[in-house]
Formats: sequence, C-alpha cells, structure tokens
Amino acid sequence: MSTAVSIAQKNLHSKGFLDLEVDPTLDLFEEIEKLKKEKNAIILAHYYQESEIQDIADYIGDSLGLSQKAAKTDADIIVFAGVHFMAETAKMLSPEKKVLLPDLKAGCSLADSCPPHLFRKFKERHPDAVVVSYINCTAELKTLTDICCTSTNAVQVIESIPEDKQIIFAPDKNLGAYLQKKTGRDLILWNGTCMVHEIFSHEKITKLRQRHPNAEFIAHPECEAHILEEADFIGSTTGLLNYSRDSDATEFIVATEVGILHQMEKASPDKTFIPAPPNNTCACNECPHMKRNTLEKLYLCMKHEEPEIILEDWIIEQGVKSINRMLEISDRAGLGLKPQDALD
Ligand code: 13P
Ligand code: SF4
Repeated sequence: MSTAVSIAQKNLHSKGFLDLEVDPTLDLFEEIEKLKKEKNAIILAHYYQESEIQDIADYIGDSLGLSQKAAKTDADIIVFAGVHFMAETAKMLSPEKKVLLPDLKAGCSLADSCPPHLFRKFKERHPDAVVVSYINCTAELKTLTDICCTSTNAVQVIESIPEDKQIIFAPDKNLGAYLQKKTGRDLILWNGTCMVHEIFSHEKITKLRQRHPNAEFIAHPECEAHILEEADFIGSTTGLLNYSRDSDATEFIVATEVGILHQMEKASPDKTFIPAPPNNTCACNECPHMKRNTLEKLYLCMKHEEPEIILEDWIIEQGVKSINRMLEISDRAGLGLKPQDALD
C-alpha cells in the first residue's frame, strides 16, 4: 500500500473521506463503471445528489425507494450516494453486505436534532405512546422507535396505528404538523427541523408566483406550515417528480432541495422548473450534507472500499424492526417500488 493511501486511511475519521489526489486525466465515469463490475457493487443515489452522481447511479430514488432497493439487492457492495442515516438504514437492512458512503460527514440536521439520550427521556414521559420516527434519524434512534416512516408513507404509517393510541412523532416537527392536519391525529411532536426545508421565503415565493401566474407551486412536507398552505401539491421527492410529469401545467415552482430538478427536467424536457427561493441571498436551497459527496469521493471510496458503515449488532437487531414494519405497511399500501422493480 502506498504511503499516501495509509496517511489518507489514518485521517479518514477526522476528514470523513479518503483525502487522496485523483488523476485529472481519468474518465471517472468509465472508472466507476469498471469498479462496479469488478466488485459487484451497486450505486444507490438520492435525488438530492449532484447531477453527475445521479447520472452514474444504478438506482435514484427517495428515502423509501432507496430502502426498498437496499433490502433487495444482490450486489456485494452497496455504495450509498446520500447521507449517513440512509447508508446506516441500508446496512441495517443488508447487514451481510459492505455499505460504503463517500463522505462519513454527510450528516443531516434532522438526525442531529434528536440525540438518542434526550429522546429516551422524552419517551419515558409518554410510556404508552407508539413511537413513529421519520427515517431521517440515527440508527440508535431507530432502536427507540416502533415504526419508521418516510415522506411517501407517513400518512399510511400513522393510519395503521389504532385510534386510541397516543403517538410520538420525531424528529421533524414540520412533517409532524402536516401529518396532524392530514390524518386528524393528535401527535406528540419532537422539535426538530430540516435546515433546507425550513428556510423557504414566503415573501419571495409570493413574488415569484406573481411573475409566473401559470406556474404550479409544489412543496415537500418538511417545509413549514405557512409555505405548505400555499402549495398546489405536497409530496415526497418521488411524489413531486411524478406530479410534475403527470400534471398539465408546464411551469413549476419547486420547494425542496434543488437536486430533484435534474430528474424533473429529464422526465419533462418541455416543462420549466424554478427552484423556490430561500430567505437568504441564494437563489435555491442545497443540502450541504448531500452535496459533500462528489464524483471523486465516490470513485475513491469504491476503489479503496472505505469509508465503510459499521454498526454494532444490537443496533442492527433492534433498529431494523422499525424499518421492516415500515416496509410491510408500504408493501400493503402498494407504495414505492413494486417487488419486481426492487430487484437488480
Ligand atoms: P424523501 O426522500 O422522503 O422525499 O425525503 C427528503 C429528504 O429530506 C431526504 O433527506
Ligand atoms: Fe437532512 Fe434536510 Fe439534508 Fe434531507 S435535506 S439530508 S432532511 S438536512
């Protein structure tokens, strides 16, 4: 092993990734394709990844589709182009496989907002409540959870719980408030938010809609209630993508992370997609965690098979139950991938 590689491995945890030079003359698309075949690896990418990562991925999806795919793949290595909690979920569903994440520091503000030691105390105050956690939480939080959900199946998960049961919903208070409205259930909410979806500007969106009167305004349910109130359609990333493809409208203002526009434009090349503006000086919202992954880091992690997601056995055994319950409810409701789509 070269000295540069052993130094990079030593610094892996402080940097989050293998900090190695990549030969600029390499065709990374070609190299990554070669590595996929050589190692029987599959690349799963979330819609919020950079366009070039989406273009090299074997499967692009929202959090539900990615979990379903991770549970069913025959690959030996899952390369997760997404954030840490997503790669952890893949590891919990396929513990015998090697799961790689290009940058271990690709975190999530929602997952960070709910530390398990504090949540445990919160849960003790409501001992009879069923705990539903948005999948955007740590593996350890999943061990304290009865049923996980994603934005695609959250309504069905809440509706699966008997009416006489109290429900704790963590960690996203915006998605929780949306679910209270949608299902009529009284949820005990944890006070977490997504740093990307909580900063859309009502004022700027109103002005944008005045300039584009025929545009439909579509939003992710992680947005704040005053933004969702204005939306013509609310849905998960896949929900928004499908809606924009199927709607007769030709212009859309999209309130979610801007990475989804790549697939929207591919699915509907004749339509116009405008990112909803945040309340800062930027024109669109990017998730800084999702964007930590680059094509170079993806190539390096496949070549050296690091950084790898390692979880303690008890976390996998206890945490996966809440994910499996979610997958069963989704299957029954016909949500996400159909069984045949989930195979390689
Ligand atoms: P979905 O993938 O469920 O749409 O959630 C979006 C998100 O914020 C992922 O981090
Ligand atoms: Fe987390 Fe929000 Fe980024 Fe998704 S978009 S990974 S919820 S911070």
